[in-house]
Order: sequence, then C-alpha cells, then structure tokens
Amino acid sequence: MENVPGKRRLSEYRIFKYLWPHKWLVVSLLLVDAILQLSEARITFQVKPIYMALEQARAAEEEDEKAEEEGSVLDQAKAGQTATPAVGSFGEDKWPMLRECFYVLAVLAAVVAITEFGRIYLSRYVAYKLDYDLRNDLCQHMLGLSMSFFNDKQNGVLLSGMTNDIATANQAILLVFDVVSSCIALIALLAMTYLLKPILALALIVIIPIIWFPSLKYRGKIRKASADRLAKLADLTQDMTQLLTGIRTVKAFRMEQQEVDEFRVIGAGVLRKSMKATRAKAMSTAWTSFLSRFGTALIILGAGWVIMFGEYGLDLGDMLTFLGFVGVTYGKVKSLAKDYTSLQEYLPGSERVFAVFDVTADIVDHPQAKPLKEIRQGIAFRDVDFGYNGVPVLHGISFDVKAGSIIAIVGHSGAGKSTMLDLIPRFYDPQKGTVEIDGIDIRRYSRDSLLAHIAIVGQQPFLFNTTITENIRYGRRNASMNDVVAAAKAANIHDFIAAQPDGYDTITGEQGVRLSGGQRQRITIARAILKNAPILLLDEATSSLDNESEKLVQAGLANLMKDRTTFVIAHRLTTVQHADRIIVLKEGRIVEEGTHDQLLAAGGEYARLYQSEIQSDEN
Ligand SMILES: Nc1ncnc2c1ncn2[C@@H]1O[C@H](COP(=O)(O)OP(=O)(O)O)[C@@H](O)[C@H]1O
Ligand SMILES: [Mg+2]
Repeated sequence: MENVPGKRRLSEYRIFKYLWPHKWLVVSLLLVDAILQLSEARITFQVKPIYMALEQARAAEEEDEKAEEEGSVLDQAKAGQTATPAVGSFGEDKWPMLRECFYVLAVLAAVVAITEFGRIYLSRYVAYKLDYDLRNDLCQHMLGLSMSFFNDKQNGVLLSGMTNDIATANQAILLVFDVVSSCIALIALLAMTYLLKPILALALIVIIPIIWFPSLKYRGKIRKASADRLAKLADLTQDMTQLLTGIRTVKAFRMEQQEVDEFRVIGAGVLRKSMKATRAKAMSTAWTSFLSRFGTALIILGAGWVIMFGEYGLDLGDMLTFLGFVGVTYGKVKSLAKDYTSLQEYLPGSERVFAVFDVTADIVDHPQAKPLKEIRQGIAFRDVDFGYNGVPVLHGISFDVKAGSIIAIVGHSGAGKSTMLDLIPRFYDPQKGTVEIDGIDIRRYSRDSLLAHIAIVGQQPFLFNTTITENIRYGRRNASMNDVVAAAKAANIHDFIAAQPDGYDTITGEQGVRLSGGQRQRITIARAILKNAPILLLDEATSSLDNESEKLVQAGLANLMKDRTTFVIAHRLTTVQHADRIIVLKEGRIVEEGTHDQLLAAGGEYARLYQSEIQSDEN
C-alpha cells in the first residue's frame, strides 16, 4: 500500500528533528494549547451543574404549585405569600450556583479567546520560521553541491523544490502541530470522562479506532497521488522556466501554440494527480464523518438504554455531560483523522525536500586540507580519466604546465577541452589520476584557497541582473571604483560603459540580456582581470567578439597573462600561436603537444586544423 514505508517514517521523524531548535516555543505552544483544550472541555463540564440547578428549580416549582393547589382552601393571603417563597427558594439556593456557573463560563470564555490567539500566533510563528529555516538550509545545501548535481537536475525542478515542495512541507509541519494538539485534547477529554465515570470513558474509547480506520486505510493512496502530483508540478515549473529562457527560440520558430498545448498537457497531469489525491482524501473524510456520527448514534442509543434501566448508577445529569463529551471527543477524533489524512497529502513535499538534503556534496575539503598560498612550480595532470555519468570523456590525460606559462588547448568541439579546464577549479574531480599544483593533489588544498587563485572566463558569459559595476566586482567584492574602471579599460569595454546614460550603474538585465554578446563577454573578462588571480582559465573567452574588438581584447588579455599560469582554449588558432605550448586534444586524448612551429612542422592533427582554418579564412 505504501510506496516506501521506511522512508515515510523517516520523513515524519525528520520533521520533528527540524522542530528541535524551537523546542521551547513548541512546548509553550503545546501548553497554551493544553490550556485551551482543557478550558473548552471544562465548559462541557458545566452542563451538569446547570442542568441540576434547573432541574431542581423546576422540581421545587412543581412542588410549590402542588402545595398551592392543596392549600387553596386555606387563607388567601397565606397562599399569596407562598407564591413569593417559591421564587425565593430558587433565588436563595440555586441562584448563587447559577451565578457561579456564569462566572466560570465567562472566565473560560476569556481564557479560550486569549489562548486561541496565542495558539494561532505561536503555531504560525513556528511554521513560518521553519519555512524560512528550511528554505535557507535548502539554498545553502544546494549551492554547496557539486556541478554534477546541477547537471543532473533541471532548474525548474529545483525551483519547484524551493517553492512548491517547501510550501507543502510547511503545511505538513503545521499539521503535525494540529495532530499533536488534538492528541492532547483527546487525552484530556478521556481523562475528564474517566473522572466523571470510568465506564463512560471505556464507552468512548471503544469507538475511536473505528473512526480512525479510514485514515489508515487511505493513507498510502493519498501519499502516492500527492507525491505524483508534486512530481508533475515540478515538470510544470520546469516547462515554464524553459519556455521563459528559450522565449526567443520559441518565437523564432513560431512554436507558441505548440508550447501552450504542451503546457496544457503537463497541467492536465497535475490536475489528474490532484484529483486522485482529492478522491482518496474525500473518501477517507467521508468515512470518518459517517463512522463518527454513527458512533454517536450508537452511544446515544446505549446511553438511553442505561438511563431507562437505571444501571451503573448514572443519572440524567451525568448522561447529558457525557453526551456533551461524546460530541466534543468525536469532533476531536474526526479532526484528528482529517489532519492525519491531510498530513499524508503534505508529507511527500517534505520527502522531496529531504531527498535534496540527502544528496551529499562529493566535492568537499579534505579533512587535512591546507590552504594554497602560491604557485611556485606549476600545474600538472597525471593520467587523468574523467566522464559524465559513466560516459568517459577524458582518457589518460597527462601534462605539465610551468608556473607563469601559457598553455593552449585545441581540438574539435566535443573533444573535451572545457571538461579538462573544469577539473582545475574542481567543478568535477577526476575519476582516475590527479590534478596537481606544485606536486600536491589539488584535493589536498582547501577549496576556498584554490578558487581564490583561479579566474575563469567561460564560454557562455554570464551576467547578474544588477549594475555593470557589481557585475565586474563579482571578481573582487571590495575592489575600488578605480580598479573596476582599470579592469574595464583592459577588457576594452570602458568606452562602451562610459557612453551609457547610467554609465557604470547601467543594469545589465537578467543574464545580461540588455547587452550584446560581445559586450557581455568583455564584462566577464573585466571581472576576471579584476580578480587578479595567478591561474587564468580562458575558455573561448573571445568567441563572441568580432575581429576588431578581439584584437583589442587580446591586447588586454596578453597584459593579463603576464606572470600568470594561463590555460587558453581558443576558437581561432591564430590567437594561440604565441602560447608556450599547445596541446591537441582529440576524442578526449592528447594526440600532439608542442609549440606552434613544432606542431606545424610535424604535419599532424594540428597542422590539419590550422590548414582548414586558413582555408576557411581565405574563402
Ligand atoms: N555536463 C555534461 N554532462 C554530460 N556530458 C557532458 C557535459 N558537458 C560536456 N559533456 C560531454 O563531454 C564531451 C566533451 O565536452 P566539452 O568538454 O564541452 O568539449 P569541448 O569544450 O572540447 O567542445 C562532449 O561529448 C559532451 O557531450
Ligand atoms: Mg568547450
């Protein structure tokens, strides 16, 4: 019936674990709740005294009337006097009692109101605080995960986790409260019934499991459907994200209607799963409702029988109080069962969130990681094998780069050039072999210090939706404005920025959409220049530039490369001629190595690549 029973229990347990830091708040909340529940139950307890008072008053009145009839033959004046004491007898011995009842009820009304406020306020506070904590933790955890996690997951699915799953998980947390508080109330009610008459408590308890049964019966179904629903919702978010990021392509190919249709299909899946969960939930609720009412009917029948035959020494007052308890108790059992059912609907959200927490970052600091201080000798790859998800990409890569030299990596697209560079900042770790700095495996350096030594200009320039200044400063957050301008000048983008109405405060738009590809790329180059790191990774850093600005940026980059260890992947071989060494990569293997002249003379792969480029330039 359950999809994964072991996991389910785990998730409930982990929610409680998440509540632990707020334990005092939770305890006070439960205390407030206990006061509330007890007060409400105590109100029910007032039924008997009030009934008794009224009943006695009625009996006294009847007696007075009888006395009046009998005494009618007697003195009229005396009969007139007896009428007053009849009212008076009610006033004398019953009025204080009624008044007391009123006081108790009035105080209880105030207590209930205040505790009700406290309950809502505190429970919401805990829930929203957990929501906040959970989201922050998820964000922190996710950003700490390695690149392979983000390769496997789609952005939309992760986004759905941050929004839909968290919201659902939060509902579950809120409900856990309700469930606990209902349990407390139930225990209080049973205790009070027990105080009234133990036998009645027994009568109450017998029916409870029957009322509870439907929620147990349907819980697996609800959970499964609800988990499916969240998965569909993630698909929907993913589709939406993809549509928005790919809107240009959608429009260019006139795919709007097809995309809307596809969106509708995924949406229909969400609807279907929602209704499946709803059906199971409605069935469960309906059965609970029926059984609790049926149980009450049974109890009334039994109570009537007991009173009629006067067994167990129960009077009408006891019975009325008891029936009051039955109403409240079954109300509680019913809402408890309902909450429990809803919990089944919401727990899959927390399961999905916890599943992300269960992904451990595979690229973490070694326990004895040392900080990388400077690079003296250089960087080396030692027999490195690497692949994505078991698909091998790099095979037995070995080479040495002397500190301060420039190494170029060339090869057809898909040869594994970018992948090779990704191993240096440890976006991925090799599956075999090592990447070393000064003869030490880079996994032995702390990641902070390693990355502090590396500046990267990637293939796809990425800008944040903020000012140009902030985008350049991403390289060094505390850089002065002078440094920012100097970096922009070196990247040949200063003149463009200065010509903007807002200058360096120009907002670049999401992913830099308000700028051209070349402008974006030059800003990322400025960012790397500003970082001023000893290792420079340039992955087709000038691919979006036209010849003219490429020449200008090359000048800036040449300046930058001085005294740095630089890895260059270039789309144009003419730009790597001056590299100290060129590595030719083919299908993940190094096939040639040497200077430009050596490789041309050798007449191998590099010579062929070079020839074909010259030819295409001539055409
Ligand atoms: N994130 C990834 N997940 C799975 N496969 C990838 C990923 N990135 C690249 N690849 C694959 O690895 C191979 C090398 O890619 P890449 O290093 O980007 O080549 P290059 O930069 O030389 O063009 C390609 O076959 C590509 O399909
Ligand atoms: Mg590449």
